[in-house]
Amino acid sequence: MLDVAEGNLRERAERVLAYHQQTKHRQDGYAAGPETLDWDAQPSPYRQFAGAPVTLLPLVSDGIDTPFAALTGQCPVAPAAPDIRSLGALLELSLGLAAIKEYGPDRWALRCNPSSGNLHPTEAYVVARGIGGIPDGVHHYRPAEHGLELRCSTILEKPGLWIALSSIFWREAWKYGERAFRYCQLDVGHALGAIAAACAVLGWQARVVPGIGADALERLLGLERERDFGRSEKEEAEVLIHIDTEPARGGRDDIPVPLCVGEPRWSGIANLLDPRPMYRWPVIESVAGASRGTIESLDLAGRVPASAAPVARAPQIILQRRSAQRYARDHVMPASVFSRILDSASGVLEQGELHLLAFVHNVEGLEQGLYALPAHTADEPRLRAAMDGSLVWEDVPEMALVPAFKRLAAGDFRKLVRALCCHQPIAADSCATFCMLAEFGDAIAVEPWRYRKLHWQAGLIGQRLYLEAEASGHAGTGIGCFLDDEIHRVLGLTGETFQAVYHFAMGRALTDERISSVPAYPGRFRLEARL
Ligand SMILES: Cc1cc2nc3c(=O)[nH]c(=O)nc-3n(C[C@H](O)[C@H](O)[C@H](O)COP(=O)(O)O)c2cc1C
Repeated sequence: MLDVAEGNLRERAERVLAYHQQTKHRQDGYAAGPETLDWDAQPSPYRQFAGAPVTLLPLVSDGIDTPFAALTGQCPVAPAAPDIRSLGALLELSLGLAAIKEYGPDRWALRCNPSSGNLHPTEAYVVARGIGGIPDGVHHYRPAEHGLELRCSTILEKPGLWIALSSIFWREAWKYGERAFRYCQLDVGHALGAIAAACAVLGWQARVVPGIGADALERLLGLERERDFGRSEKEEAEVLIHIDTEPARGGRDDIPVPLCVGEPRWSGIANLLDPRPMYRWPVIESVAGASRGTIESLDLAGRVPASAAPVARAPQIILQRRSAQRYARDHVMPASVFSRILDSASGVLEQGELHLLAFVHNVEGLEQGLYALPAHTADEPRLRAAMDGSLVWEDVPEMALVPAFKRLAAGDFRKLVRALCCHQPIAADSCATFCMLAEFGDAIAVEPWRYRKLHWQAGLIGQRLYLEAEASGHAGTGIGCFLDDEIHRVLGLTGETFQAVYHFAMGRALTDERISSVPAYPGRFRLEARL
């Protein structure tokens, strides 16, 4: 007989897997979503806590010369002193606004972290003690103003700095319906990658705090406080990250957890983002409940690549990163660029349970076709056994730097990939379009929370691909819209062991000249002094 805990676990795992099945886009119909959208009634992209005291953060990225190589651990960076300026830089370069776009009467902000549909369901909190210029306690980050609102004034047991992320599912579900939970989790992964990159710029290290449960994180951030949220959309606690501002000190395997020891004084009332929600998608609450759990360790840095990093200023690349909306179909990506991108991405891949497939359309010296990059060489036999038996799995001498990269089939797959990615031309006009294949295997049955983790890892890989593409004069686009089982069918995958969770196109961007761009935070003073 099953004991209760095991029964719960099995039921939760089944619920997660059923959600994944239910939210697949299929050839004969997309996952359930709204039938109409009233763009004027879009939920506010900004959470605010009215009445909470605000600390404006300085804009200091102009004065930071860290090279791009630092983002992949390829050049040492002296750690910045932790204070309001360096914390300002960390947030500006990870979750802050990067540009304001204008087209006719429309105006919208873009951020350093990408987000499906630019809807930005991810919120960030800063937990701090002893950071010069920042009151001790728990703050909510306001990207619109680049400021922190003090949600809870309290005393923490020890000095330190943490960032926590939460999701507001409705912001995403408003447009994407039931599939939105997946996008929120991919967005968390991108945000984790963005925070890790910004930390590297400052000579710091971001590390996920393992062992903390969703309830504990919710209480730390005050997300369970009914009186502060009222009718306003709830936030789901996702992950806590410790920011190590002296990573070279070494011998610090234990990752500190913030412990409130003072009397907490809460302030601020959450704003209502959507006064008239037109739809309800209860399956999102259901999968969220089923996949809530205790956070496991998750590597955010990845292996240091062996190839030379592109020469560029890291803050500039982070701020100018954009999702391409169109690609120059005839552009040929140099082999050295593609090799570097594979090398860098595999450094992230190696830390997780995801594999990359690449539909190569236009890369110098590489035959058009389908390729695979398993996370580890040892994974190849498993992947190979699961996929179509006629795939050839040949070595690719042109990409000798990444020996795990194999050619599976030659051919022009542009038309096919475009159809697989919801008929989006970006998937066909790119130089290469990647498919991220997650190993569900027993992972979710053992711990349903890992459904989130697999999406976070996909977002982390996506963030690395975005930055590498940008630094080499190319661009990327995350692709959340794809026909799940059609991809599995093309690859010969049956069963649920391997599931496509994300796609990514990469090539030379064509810019839409009708859209103009102005710098973020107009009118705000930018400090140019060095940190
Ligand atoms: C998880 C995720 C899924 C996305 N899916 C698509 C997609 O299917 N098609 C597309 O054109 N862009 C897609 N994007 C790109 C977003 O539309 C883009 O990030 C957003 O508009 C913000 O623009 P920016 O990346 O230039 O900051 C996706 C981005 C993310 C993070």
